Amino acid sequence: MRKPFIAGNWKMNTNYTSALGLARRLVEQLKGIDTVDSAICVPFVYLQAVSSTLSSSNIALGAQDVFYESNGAFTGEISCEMLKDVGCTYAIIGHSERRHVIGETDVVINKKVRAAIAGGLLPIFCVGELLEEREAGKTEDVVVSQIRKGLEGVDPERVQAVTIAYEPVWAIGTGKTATAEQAQQVHAMIRSLVAEMYDKNIAERMRIQYGGSAKPSNTTELMANPDVDGLLVGGASLKVEDFSAMIKTVA
Ligand code: PGA
Repeated sequence: MRKPFIAGNWKMNTNYTSALGLARRLVEQLKGIDTVDSAICVPFVYLQAVSSTLSSSNIALGAQDVFYESNGAFTGEISCEMLKDVGCTYAIIGHSERRHVIGETDVVINKKVRAAIAGGLLPIFCVGELLEEREAGKTEDVVVSQIRKGLEGVDPERVQAVTIAYEPVWAIGTGKTATAEQAQQVHAMIRSLVAEMYDKNIAERMRIQYGGSAKPSNTTELMANPDVDGLLVGGASLKVEDFSAMIKTVA
């Protein structure tokens, strides 16, 4: 049985005061919930402060990205070791905004996934198709290619650290959620791909999150799918009431 995993992606939002306030109120709201794994992925500069706030809670800390080298002349980048040092458990890797706004390639994303696992972070590895790709009937091709390239060279022992997040790009921040059927269809396809790349046991244990306008009103429907094991939540994770309601619903 896969334990549900709900993660919030704050993106480039909050400031020092609101980040701490949000984290503090979430800790209060989610006290005692242990049937769902939860995490918040916070802007780099607030990780350390939020880490202290979360220290006595069940909520894990995540970063929104990580670089693949461990130190050196890489101006502006943040290593795995640095993230571990401030208390991170997870790192989002390959988010569509990094793929399509920043221009990250599958090769870079693969290096990040491998470095994160090697460094002891748990990657939340994001994949998903653009609207034009869905409309052209290319969803499966795109997602399969992103997963094959993103997990290239990741051996079976190590791949168990990975959570895959399926986030159709057309559903992110648009208010347009994939229907439960659309999500289930891609999630089931991802699970059989993982079984083919690794084995059935690994595929059965792998958690696959859905992301893209997930909110309290669609949580039950999305999570009712047999292959939807959790949610990666953007906008709704910035509202304490919404994010905690989603976790409580799943719990
Ligand atoms: P959204 O973002 O929930 O605001 O659509 C999800 C994500 O990008 O992870």
